[in-house]
Amino acid sequence: MSRERLIEMTRHSIEHAKAGTLEQEPDVFRVPASNYTDPERWRREMDGIFKRLPLVLATTAELREPGSYKAMQVLGVPVLIARAPDGALRTFVNMCSHRGAVIMPEGNGKARRFICPYHAWTYDEKGALVGILSAKDFGEVDKSCLGLTALPVAERAGLVWVCVDPESKLDIDTFLCGYDEMLAHFGFADWHVVSRRQVDGPNWKIAYDGYLDLYHLPILHKDTFGPNFPNQAHYYAWGPHQRVSSPHPGLVALADQPEDAWPETVLTGGVWTIFPHVSIATFDVGGRGVLLSQLFPGETPLSSVTVQTYLMAEEPSDEQREAAEKQVDLLEYVVREEDYATGLRQQRALLTGVRKELLFGRNEGGGHRFHRWVERLIAASDDELAGLFEAGESAIVPR
Ligand code: FES
Ligand SMILES: [Fe+2]
Repeated sequence: MSRERLIEMTRHSIEHAKAGTLEQEPDVFRVPASNYTDPERWRREMDGIFKRLPLVLATTAELREPGSYKAMQVLGVPVLIARAPDGALRTFVNMCSHRGAVIMPEGNGKARRFICPYHAWTYDEKGALVGILSAKDFGEVDKSCLGLTALPVAERAGLVWVCVDPESKLDIDTFLCGYDEMLAHFGFADWHVVSRRQVDGPNWKIAYDGYLDLYHLPILHKDTFGPNFPNQAHYYAWGPHQRVSSPHPGLVALADQPEDAWPETVLTGGVWTIFPHVSIATFDVGGRGVLLSQLFPGETPLSSVTVQTYLMAEEPSDEQREAAEKQVDLLEYVVREEDYATGLRQQRALLTGVRKELLFGRNEGGGHRFHRWVERLIAASDDELAGLFEAGESAIVPR
């Protein structure tokens, strides 16, 4: 089913490439410039989107081993993701029930028990409190009520989605709108983490706009990717999640081959974004790879942090690893010195308030859809949330 969908998209791109045409939106789309800089608006985005929706916080590849864990801060919430010896993946607020200390240090590691560094209260892999130091001295408490607070988690397509709101009622599969079935084609569960970087950037939407945008590639990246990079994009949506692929002339040759022989790397090529904060860009440098970029808003509307993780389908040889590291060096440079440096200057210019509206062309449909989803989500109550994802694209009312 999902392979058929991949073939359909590729066929669509080939037809457009042959005809030299592009799928376009009906009109140019306008976004108020203050949406990017207004602190009140940003606060609504944090509460209505980042604190309410599942976020991709890890890959199966980094939590494959029983007993492995990952601890991180997400919008101020200390999160602990752990693979139990029985293979189950559980997620908790990484905070002790004694007096709230953060239990596991940030980063990846292995542990059989989670022991608080403050007074050594100890939790098992299910988050149950199993040990109180000097329990007799401490006094009577009901340990069964003092386990770690669980967070909603789902592992799909080799990626781990977590909601940082323990009270969230939103079903993660409803949120995914079937997109995980498409992502499953990569088989990320069996891939390998090769390299990881971190890049500071501008407002999260300025950064995210860039991941949906092929229009800028041969211009802003003329000295890195080169001026011949295709700048036309088709957008395919599963709810708010969008695949970006280019109807470039190189695809036309495929038309002579039977569809079932079309290679998986071509069928899955381009950029796969996961709302609201992930981009998966495909590469073939010394082996099949992707750059998974997780974008996290910073502490103010004007900052963000992007974690870049390079994954490869096969465990790389020394030579392939070296080639991959060079590729990641380049990608880090491109994002830091070209995309985000431009975004930071753009942000400073927007703060002047001189320009009231920004434009997304008929060729930039990804941006139209992204900003419409942001708008709808921050306006929706908790009870309306699931309905938006169930309705998918039909929920979008064009301006
Ligand atoms: S705060 Fe964790 S044991 Fe005291
Ligand atoms: Fe870019």
